[in-house]
Amino acid sequence: MLISKPKECFHQVTLWKREGKTIGFVPTMGALHSGHMALVERARNECDKVVVSIFVNPLQFGKNEDYHVYPRKPDEDVTLLKDAGVDLVFVPAAEDMYPEGFATKVVVAGPAQHYEGVSRPGHFEGVATVLIKLFNIIPADKAYFGLKDAQQVAVVKRMVQDLNVPVGIVVHPVVRDADGLALSSRNVYLEQKHVRDRANVIYRALMHLYRSYKQGIREANVLKEIAIEVLSSESDFILDYIDIVDPDRFVPLEDARDGSLVVVAGRLAGVRLIDALELYSG
Ligand code: PAJ
Repeated sequence: MLISKPKECFHQVTLWKREGKTIGFVPTMGALHSGHMALVERARNECDKVVVSIFVNPLQFGKNEDYHVYPRKPDEDVTLLKDAGVDLVFVPAAEDMYPEGFATKVVVAGPAQHYEGVSRPGHFEGVATVLIKLFNIIPADKAYFGLKDAQQVAVVKRMVQDLNVPVGIVVHPVVRDADGLALSSRNVYLEQKHVRDRANVIYRALMHLYRSYKQGIREANVLKEIAIEVLSSESDFILDYIDIVDPDRFVPLEDARDGSLVVVAGRLAGVRLIDALELYSG
């Protein structure tokens, strides 16, 4: 079922809820790949009804970012979702989400303050605002997010807690290509710039770091240096940040521990890439 109007979508989900069905919700910006589909499959396994939204949210893009060229494949996406057994696809128009006179935003601090919050000012306000709207339009029991956008997960968890949003946040591991590159709708830009084959430098760096962690190294600075050495082997790669952070507060840690996250972002031939890895010694 394909619905574009918020009210109709709310109505349908509410009907299901009255029937006692549990609702799983996967928010996306479309151009779907196996990373998105892993979240869908998980929702399918854990809930009675699965709702997926496709909305390229203008509010979370900076002025000089890629909103206008962001890949859009609505027909392919809908076919994929139908084949995956999704019950409802919500594809609102920008005018329906942000009609004239729209004047309210969610302000985020805490885990939104560093990293992407610095590199992309206003980004998390945009994410939080669209998500609170989507959570109201689709009153789901569980909403599914990928660890690839680890800071987004921390911001969403904080918001849901702070604003008493009655939805459970489920986090899924990063889905990667065979060479380790985290799948992303933006990876098409890598093909366009002919640098796809070098983009796994981030994963190689993360794996070097991880090996050292497993060997017992805990000092964040030492671990970071190990990764940075690999990253600098790729001359076209410009590092934005790499740190080992607390997964909830998203502040840098001096010493890594099990459960902490390595977060990394940079540009390869101008294409921005981000990745995250959870550390475990076992
Ligand atoms: P989008 O980039 O389309 O991603 C939708 C969801 O899929 C996010 O939770 C993201 O973390 C997850 N995802 C993307 N690539 C993944 C991968 N390789 N492995 C696992 N999960 C992956 O994130 C957004 O859209 C937007 O910010 C949104 C939450 C929809 C709000 O507009």
